[in-house]
Amino acid sequence: MGNQAFAGKTVLITGAASGIGRGVAMAFAQEGANVVVADIAVAAGEETAKDILRAGGQAIFVRTDVAVAADVKAAVDAAVATYGALDCAFNNAGIEEEHQRLADSDEAMFDRMMAINVKGVWLCMKHEIAQMLKQGGGSIVNTASVAGLIGAPKHAIYAASKHAVVGLTKSAAAEYGKKGIRVNSVCPGVIRTPMLERALEREAGWEESLVRMHPIGRLGEVDDVASAVLWLCSDASSFVTGHQLAVDGAMTVV
Ligand code: NAI
Repeated sequence: MGNQAFAGKTVLITGAASGIGRGVAMAFAQEGANVVVADIAVAAGEETAKDILRAGGQAIFVRTDVAVAADVKAAVDAAVATYGALDCAFNNAGIEEEHQRLADSDEAMFDRMMAINVKGVWLCMKHEIAQMLKQGGGSIVNTASVAGLIGAPKHAIYAASKHAVVGLTKSAAAEYGKKGIRVNSVCPGVIRTPMLERALEREAGWEESLVRMHPIGRLGEVDDVASAVLWLCSDASSFVTGHQLAVDGAMTVV
């Protein structure tokens, strides 16, 4: 992608304090976008915004719990109040669960996972789309997962939440295509982030078997996802909507 491809554009990114969200925030900033860093983690979220400013970019941090409607609306409002518009959104905040068979998993985890991974994406799209309709268009990317495309043994609740993200993506794309709003998902394979590091700490020796699940022969990096998200948000993908883009080193084709 050319330099400053998003100059003058504003993007809202949830989960931007860490991992994939942080990497995508830095990539958008490098391409000239105004970045609204939205996360429940205040210190790390502020750090992402500061890093963007230190590198000469534009960013604000808005403390946002994506499961809380008022927080999400405030984040969209802050984007518009600060930068005048909301051109792109990356709805990426999400949580994982510990390895657990379905019969052993608990109701509190189910409710929490659905509140953040599903309701959070729905709330974000609801408020982002309302703003994009006023402007006449926009581009939204949601973070699903390979677990939104295929089953995930011992991660049934997570897989259900990510399949729901795919359902939200497809439905919104069909509803708002004629209004100039594109909606797509990225479906990452296993990506090296703090979320993965936590899982690896819980499961000694798991990393090798994870690598074997990716025919490309390695795990993914945050930058692998960032370039896919920027492409989906850019005009280069103007006929692509309602798509689930696997960024997974061929994990889901075998
Ligand atoms: P991470 O744990 O490094 O970052 C997640 C971010 O979301 C954190 O900054 C956290 O504070 C934030 N967050 C959590 N709950 C929140 C809430 N209620 N409101 C606002 N922010 C909240 O995780 P990572 O790996 O960067 O994951 C990002 C997304 O990518 C998640 O949706 C995850 O399910 C998905 N994903 C990750 C994969 C991986 O291998 N790392 C693979 C496939 C999908």
